[in-house]
Amino acid sequence: MPTNAELWERRAKAVGRGVNTAHPVFAARAENAELWDVEGKRYIDFVGGIGTQNTGHRHPKVMKAIASQAANVLHTAYQVNAYESYIALAEKLNALAPIEGPAKTLLFTTGAEAVENAVKIARYATRRSAVISFTGAFHGRTFMGMALTGKVVPYKAGFGSMPGEVYRLPFPVESHGATGADALEALDWIFKTDIEPARVAAIIIEPVQGEGGFYVAPFDFLKRLRAICDQHGIMLIADEIQSGFARTGKFFAIEHSGVKPDLITTAKSLAGGMPLSGVVGRAAVMDAPEPGGLGGTYSGNPVACSAALAVIDVIKEERILDKSIELGDKLKKRLKEMSMRNDLPPMDDIRGLGAMVAFDIVKSRGRQDPDPDRTKKLMGEALSRGLILLTCGLYGNGVRILVPITVEPRVLDEGLNLLEDSLKAVA
Ligand SMILES: Cc1ncc(COP(=O)(O)O)c(C=O)c1O
Repeated sequence: MPTNAELWERRAKAVGRGVNTAHPVFAARAENAELWDVEGKRYIDFVGGIGTQNTGHRHPKVMKAIASQAANVLHTAYQVNAYESYIALAEKLNALAPIEGPAKTLLFTTGAEAVENAVKIARYATRRSAVISFTGAFHGRTFMGMALTGKVVPYKAGFGSMPGEVYRLPFPVESHGATGADALEALDWIFKTDIEPARVAAIIIEPVQGEGGFYVAPFDFLKRLRAICDQHGIMLIADEIQSGFARTGKFFAIEHSGVKPDLITTAKSLAGGMPLSGVVGRAAVMDAPEPGGLGGTYSGNPVACSAALAVIDVIKEERILDKSIELGDKLKKRLKEMSMRNDLPPMDDIRGLGAMVAFDIVKSRGRQDPDPDRTKKLMGEALSRGLILLTCGLYGNGVRILVPITVEPRVLDEGLNLLEDSLKAVA
């Protein structure tokens, strides 16, 4: 088998540089929260395919469902011949999603595609075109996804003008200077200075921002947004692509607030690593577009649907929602202990919901002065010790933890010890 260095060199020659690879380590095999590279080195995976592995790499039940579906039909294109697993998954998602009244589902392939389709559905249902999103938001790399995303470098810079009418509110993070009240005031200003509410199709929000830094939207703020959307006939879209599928201790993070959105986007851990995404929403809204207006050749692939049905069973049978809360408590406790130590670099703002946990590396204790250089060094030190980490946030100094919720306690402790050692190495 080629070495990591050889593959890295071939990658540079053969693959466009626009898709970044965080670590020069090539995966050969993975199991639950562990991963082995092409040289046989073992890693503990605190990233889990950026939140695609909430039920662990290659869960036996998911693997079995994939193998059994693959033995029969790989793909037909749902638009030509449908199959039961698509319908069964839609039924399950309709029952699980916090939608008021009857719900319907459509399946797609990537997260960005789910976002695009949620916006298309909202536009069709309201016959309006504007969308409001947030600073720090990440909604994907397609053109509408980019337009909705609230971070310029590397997602928008250089790609030309953005499509559609998109307006932006500050995401309420008090430590970044915006409270929920500030964000609502900004919304008032948008309605006064840019666009009347009657032309706004949707407000899209991540109930817990993912790429933006694992910030939890205040529940009162979500409730106010719901009321404003109701007042003006605006669709509230919850982008649950990173925060969903058991990560925060609920199937969908917005359930913690009691708010019921009109549309929910889901992807990532939905199918345990198979490419599958979906939009779940109020039946009347979902049925607005004409047949043929939505879809895609690979949308709702049967193998991915079978995997997703198995993932839902695993979440229920293995108490993954409870385990997510327990894991989150354990992560926060250990991180708090580390943050008290003077022999480790200053850690700040340990935060998150359930097992969606992050912290910042800052230059001085008790201050919010980001230290992206030290954070980058931490990634390297962790990797050399056998721990895979990933950053997040607008300032490059957030460290997010998306370890599979099914991680064995022994492996979790080992990973946290490696994190502690790596922090010490960059102190
Ligand atoms: C909240 C959110 N929305 C949309 C996306 C885009 O998903 P994908 O990369 O599958 O297109 C992501 C991916 O990280 C995400 O976290």
